[in-house]
Amino acid sequence: TEEELDDIYAFAVQLGKDAGKLLLEAAQARFNGSGQSSQDFSEKDSAVDIVTKTDEDVEAFIKTSIAEKYPDHAFVGEESYSKTCSSRAYLISDTTPTWCVDPLDGTVNYTHLFPMFCVSIALVLHGKPTIGVICAPYLNQLFTACRGRGAWLNETQRLPLVRSPSIPPMPENAPQSCVFSCEWGKDRKDRPDGNLCRKVESFLNMAAEVGGRGGKGGMVHGVRSLGSATMDLAYTAMGAFDIWWEGGCWEWDVAAGIVILQEAGGLITTANPPGDSRTSKIEDVKLGSRLYLAIR
Ligand code: IPD
Repeated sequence: TEEELDDIYAFAVQLGKDAGKLLLEAAQARFNGSGQSSQDFSEKDSAVDIVTKTDEDVEAFIKTSIAEKYPDHAFVGEESYSKTCSSRAYLISDTTPTWCVDPLDGTVNYTHLFPMFCVSIALVLHGKPTIGVICAPYLNQLFTACRGRGAWLNETQRLPLVRSPSIPPMPENAPQSCVFSCEWGKDRKDRPDGNLCRKVESFLNMAAEVGGRGGKGGMVHGVRSLGSATMDLAYTAMGAFDIWWEGGCWEWDVAAGIVILQEAGGLITTANPPGDSRTSKIEDVKLGSRLYLAIR
């Protein structure tokens, strides 16, 4: 029922705040030199895919809290998954309410004390991201949304935030005057047709002139790469970014951000080979894709 959903939403928001507090304490301990040093991480699938004790501690806290409150719900978390599974599978049940959690998105940022890191908690019902909570404690930003209830920053400011009159909801001549965001991901294969080359090229193309030949009005305003797919979606929902894409995402990177973006009026879709069952209709985005494209 709607009342039950409200209760779960309140629980998820409190859980996001509590987990954010743990993240902040751990980050401050690093900053003060009393916590783990910047070398306290280990590699997962590659040298750029890293995990810290904080990822594991925060995931354990969230997992236990959910299991105590909702023992019948399923749980999919980045760190539990990487310990138990070796192959890519569709992770989210269509029948059991499933919590989809990234305890620390932007682990590289956290490790280097770049403040764009967050905890991401989503509840997925019937395969659809329904509640989303993203807490970026170092920035004091809490993004929350539940289907039908709007998207919020710090529980008081409705998203998207009011825009300056000179920057309308989406510039009419988009992608001119837009701010793009995309991520490097973790696949850095460096061969002529490889991922890295394609990514560098797409960054360069976006940063270069789009649609005009010199003079005014032919340029995107900027290209950004925050190092956190979750924060990218939150910032697109907020209106700071106009367009975001990434190839290589996992469910926990995007599930919470999808609800927040959609409740803020944004659109998200996936790009898969033709005929792939996870290719989404724009109003019914499917988790389990690797490549996502979001527009505010
Ligand atoms: C990663 C970050 C990164 C993105 C990767 C994610 P993690 O998550 O969001 O920006 O490019 O695809 O896996 O490892 O920091 O939780």
